[in-house]
Amino acid sequence: MARVYISSLLLTLMFHIVIVAGQGPLQDFCVADTKSQVMVNGFACKNPSSVEASDFFFSGLHMKGNTSNPVGSKVTLVTVKELPGLNTLGIAMARVDYEPWGLNPPHFHPRATELLTLLEGTLEVGFVTSNPENRFITKVLHKGDVFVFPMKLIHFQRNIGNTKALAISALSSQNPGIVTIANAVLGSKPDISIDILAKAFQTSEEVINNMQLKF
Ligand SMILES: *[C@@H]1O[C@H](CO)[C@@H](O)[C@H](O)[C@H]1NC(C)=O
Repeated sequence: MARVYISSLLLTLMFHIVIVAGQGPLQDFCVADTKSQVMVNGFACKNPSSVEASDFFFSGLHMKGNTSNPVGSKVTLVTVKELPGLNTLGIAMARVDYEPWGLNPPHFHPRATELLTLLEGTLEVGFVTSNPENRFITKVLHKGDVFVFPMKLIHFQRNIGNTKALAISALSSQNPGIVTIANAVLGSKPDISIDILAKAFQTSEEVINNMQLKF
């Protein structure tokens, strides 16, 4: 009896693992069960019979983010963490607020392409291609313009107007991730050795030290 129970438990576990490890959804939905102890690529599925409309819902993206910070911008994310119904669906959303001349500093998303729509204001946007070209591709966006930042490339947006700007972005992952270049390189914990960064940036250790102190 106990053996039957254990093997059926194992089967249930395997069933869940196979489902969530698929490239795309293999069923209508797999609402994130954030309390599950099962470690999978994403979250395990909630029992479909206990899923409710609220699992597919997020409220609050009409609210401006708090831009009182050194860069003057704020990204408000709606990923699988905020909206469990996004689990396994490969999509997420963000609201980005910019003060006049505010900057969403150079960063990349390790798991997502970003499709940005500018709703208010004027943005200077850009991304840089990989080595060896490192081509900088940039454009000024106006209200209603859409711009794509290809997956994993370093990009930024800057408000070049004297009014606030507002953008909405779609991201091609339920968990896009963000690596902000300055924070990752100059603000890692613990620090990357100063001499390594001085050589990489072809500058003095004093310059690197001053920059690290800001992060
Ligand atoms: C916005 O962020 C700043 C800096 O962290 C903080 O001092 C301030 O209280 C925040 N404002 C609101 C309305 O949350």
